[in-house]
Amino acid sequence: MGPITAQLLHELGYDPDDGVPDVSELEPLAIGELVRARAGATTVAVARLASGKLVVVADECPHDGGRISDGYVDGERLVCARHGWELEVENGRCRKAGSCPRR
Ligand code: FES
Repeated sequence: MGPITAQLLHELGYDPDDGVPDVSELEPLAIGELVRARAGATTVAVARLASGKLVVVADECPHDGGRISDGYVDGERLVCARHGWELEVENGRCRKAGSCPRR
């Protein structure tokens, strides 16, 4: 890896040694399971919803940047652990989101 590539990855917050697995390395998820993973230089939250649907979203809450992967699955929604906002993954909207930019 050259110095410019390393600098760009650093600016993106990518640390290949941070222990976050690549999405291709994940074991199948059980219903209700939510984990953090990496897709290239992007950190994502991967979840198996109650319906069995597998979803992958950016691991950044639209409310205030909390990690979605620190939250939990509630039916067909992901709940951010930081302030409890609920992300409807089908449409990217938030519930309990008085000032959510995606509303
Ligand atoms: S940062 Fe996610 S609910 Fe506030």
